[in-house]
Amino acid sequence: MFQSLQALPADPILGLMAAYRADKNPLKIDLGVGVYRDSNGTTPVMTSVKKAEDYLLQTQDSKSYVGPTGSAGYNDAVAELILGNSLINSLGTRRVTVQSPGGCGGLRLGAEFIKQASPEATVWVSDPTWANHVPLLGSAGLKIEKYPYYDYATHSVRFDEMMSTLAKVPQGDVVLLHGCCHNPCGADLSHDQWDQIKDLALEQGFTTFIDLAYQGLGDGLVEDVYGVRLMAEALPELIVVSSCSKNFGLYRERTGALTMTTANEEDTRIATTFLAAAARAMYSMPPDHGAAIVDYILNNADLRKEWDSELQQMCARINGLRTQLVEQIKAAGVDQDFSFIQREKGMFSFLGVNVDQVQRLVNEFSIYLVNSSRINVAGINESNIEYLASSLARVLADS
Ligand code: LMR
Repeated sequence: MFQSLQALPADPILGLMAAYRADKNPLKIDLGVGVYRDSNGTTPVMTSVKKAEDYLLQTQDSKSYVGPTGSAGYNDAVAELILGNSLINSLGTRRVTVQSPGGCGGLRLGAEFIKQASPEATVWVSDPTWANHVPLLGSAGLKIEKYPYYDYATHSVRFDEMMSTLAKVPQGDVVLLHGCCHNPCGADLSHDQWDQIKDLALEQGFTTFIDLAYQGLGDGLVEDVYGVRLMAEALPELIVVSSCSKNFGLYRERTGALTMTTANEEDTRIATTFLAAAARAMYSMPPDHGAAIVDYILNNADLRKEWDSELQQMCARINGLRTQLVEQIKAAGVDQDFSFIQREKGMFSFLGVNVDQVQRLVNEFSIYLVNSSRINVAGINESNIEYLASSLARVLADS
């Protein structure tokens, strides 16, 4: 039976990790997978996380099961982080948050839920969107369509075209938005644009689904959830999937959550039973360690402050690198305007070069980036930025 299968191609993002590791060039740069790196090129465990782990090691007295919806303490803490206290209070029993195995697990959980609630639903994703959105949502059997989002020529959101497409999305369909730090393009919606989408969602009655994987890495913890809070306040129903991979650096601990707002307490009760059943059928229950760390940090005033300041430093470093990269590209003699990199948010931007040019960067210069020309800005540091800029300049000059 097994011999009927042909090998699949490597994952477009994760495949780069292996290729980078195997490369012997001392100048190699990994701008592939979206992990934060410090100025030494390492992805450290945050100090606040280490402290929480120490505490857990000393005090944890059981490894018994947590249950399909995860830890109640973690769920409340995460809900508070994304929605804020006053919204949590006003939503009351119209909200439920369940722990998930990373943002991916939350997205898949959301997809399973949508498939149950609206089996014929189409999920509308941005063009472009994160490469894994399509398999995650599609594997639940949902149809996927695209709405226009990024204009590669002007490096901005194609907002009018996006709105014209969304104006035709009916009730029963789902629109997936990126909460902040759009992956892959880094071009975010303005407050005014969020407001207009909210009005359209109310008018059309489609369900809004927000992927929030980078809270705190764009403009700040509160600034980055403008859209999420706006939608949660105004819409009768909403799904938000959040991740602690990036802002707590808990990548491999698979720590995420799905938060849902519903029309009333009874809908919340019913939705929770579906979410628990979907979790049970797919992975039974989420892993505990990462969630226990986040729960402890967010509920301990000193540690929370420490984490907040570590996150702010990470965010400032990324934004600083954006500015430096634009300057270095210019200094390398490139006439083309790259200032859009400075305007974009979070870990990612497109360099805007074509696949052949990407392949040259990978094969000739050992600079690893996704074929779409998406770079992880956090992979840049003081010792590789000049090499990156000069290599890009060479590739652009030869084209
Ligand atoms: C990325 O886009 O690089 C990250 O979200 C990591 C992943 O799983 O793809």
